[in-house]
Amino acid sequence: MKKIRWGILSSAKIGTEKVIPAMKQSGTGEIQALASRSHETAKKICGELGIPKSYGSYEELLADPEIDAVYNPLPNHLHVPWTIEAARSGKHVLCEKPIALDAEEATQLLEVQKETGVLIQEAFMVRDNPQWHKVCDKIQDGEIGELRAIQSAFSYMNRDPNNIRNMADIGGGGIYDIGCYPVFISRMLFGEEPLEVTALIEKDPDFKTDRLASGMMKFPSGQSSFLCSTQLVPYQRVQVFGTKKRIEVEVPFNAPNQMPCRVFLDDGSANHGRFKLIEDLPVCDQYTKQAEAFENKILSGSIDNSPLQDAISNMVIIDALYRSGNTGQLVNI
Ligand SMILES: NC(=O)c1ccc[n+]([C@@H]2O[C@H](COP(=O)([O-])OP(=O)(O)OC[C@H]3O[C@@H](n4cnc5c(N)ncnc54)[C@H](OP(=O)(O)O)[C@@H]3O)[C@@H](O)[C@H]2O)c1
Repeated sequence: MKKIRWGILSSAKIGTEKVIPAMKQSGTGEIQALASRSHETAKKICGELGIPKSYGSYEELLADPEIDAVYNPLPNHLHVPWTIEAARSGKHVLCEKPIALDAEEATQLLEVQKETGVLIQEAFMVRDNPQWHKVCDKIQDGEIGELRAIQSAFSYMNRDPNNIRNMADIGGGGIYDIGCYPVFISRMLFGEEPLEVTALIEKDPDFKTDRLASGMMKFPSGQSSFLCSTQLVPYQRVQVFGTKKRIEVEVPFNAPNQMPCRVFLDDGSANHGRFKLIEDLPVCDQYTKQAEAFENKILSGSIDNSPLQDAISNMVIIDALYRSGNTGQLVNI
């Protein structure tokens, strides 16, 4: 069976530590090459991870005719430029989140997608995790009553001035890095787009990036609020409130790959939350699931611009949250 041959742009930590090892578990893909700005670095990583070809520039990798798809985990300001280069080289692109620095920049990709016919998708691995499929099913089956509210938190502690998350000029900041997940999850669960949003943003005085943000989104059917921070105790949780029951997702975003995810269903019978574990979640690696789903779209010829439209819609909300935080105003979408 034909396999999708991947090329990886850069020695990014997310690639070397999580996504590449997970992609290697896919039955429908294989990693052909990795490029770094330093050929020494590329050679070292390829040796360690068993990748056949190393390149000392991204251009060389894109010129390789034996590569079908590119994984782009570059810093945020390079997502759109290198996704365009890759698409114009005839490669499908799985690009890390956030897809762009703003919706206007993301929209450039629509033209490129139309011109090249390749698949361009934002790497929100949570969409392929069975724990979220289970939550979506429970909402659609009406088990929690009407979905009315979502509350999320996502935080970590990172004060390293050399980390891309703390560099404002290349797309650093908490909403870009992790606030994008509550936005994505809320849009996915409501199956709607927000009508208006508001945010409180506190910036780091040195980095000038948002280090603490609280966002609220009004959807046609309810509300979603979230907290995200690059300088707080590490934590993540999502609570999904229906009119009858509540669902709690224990590790909603960086889900474990060695043990089953834990999702709890609160039956609403007591106000301290009497909940039971939803048991039948398989042990899986969400990055493998992401790679397989992407590869299968290519192999089955189901390529359209819907993943890109979704990424642009997410970016519209991120833009609006930053605008609200910077102006103190409620922003209508
Ligand atoms: N989906 C997820 O679970 C997840 C998790 C973490 C991060 N991410 C996303 O993945 C991306 C990378 O994050 P990361 O923490 O892995 O990044 P990182 O370790 O800092 O790696 C970024 C890589 O980009 C290359 N690069 C090219 N130009 C650069 C520049 N001007 N400054 C810095 N690096 C440059 C470098 O590789 P070479 O020198 O080898 O070319 C560098 O190693 C971000 O967009 C982030 O939002 C996603």
